[in-house]
Amino acid sequence: MRSSTSRRRGLRALTLASLLALGGLAWPVLPVLAADDSAQLALGKKLFLQGVAPSCAVCHTLQAAGAEGAVGPVLDELKPDAARVAKALRNGLGQMPSYKDKLNDAEIAALALYVSKASGGAK
Ligand code: HEC
Repeated sequence: MRSSTSRRRGLRALTLASLLALGGLAWPVLPVLAADDSAQLALGKKLFLQGVAPSCAVCHTLQAAGAEGAVGPVLDELKPDAARVAKALRNGLGQMPSYKDKLNDAEIAALALYVSKASGGAK
């Protein structure tokens, strides 16, 4: 009797733990749950350096990417969170062009995740 109760309690704790783990993985700008951040981060870094024109690195400094552009703000200092990066990519800002016709949602999400994490702006 006692053992079955504790087994049930254990199961409940396990369910709670997996719910919490799932919650931690959910990213606000992502339409789907990010199962693996590292693939997204790698895509974000690649796009930051090349693959879309003009590349972010032409205009921005971001130490983690080895980028030393000096037209836009130094991202290591700005520390934008992912939502702020995604917004700048979709809408453009000042001299920065909009990327909404050049990048799809997954690419914008990957760049936003990468830039926010690499700059220290991720919350
Ligand atoms: C032609 C130069 C140029 C390119 C290319 C460029 N940016 Fe920018 N970016 C700027 C400038 C200039 C600003 C500042 C705009 C302002 O505040 O008026 C800026 C601002 C930003 C901001 C801050 C937005 C905010 O809310 O203050 C982020 C984040 C950013 N850029 C990320 C990127 C990423 C990621 C890429 C590559 C997809 C990129 N930028 C490409 C010039 C550029």
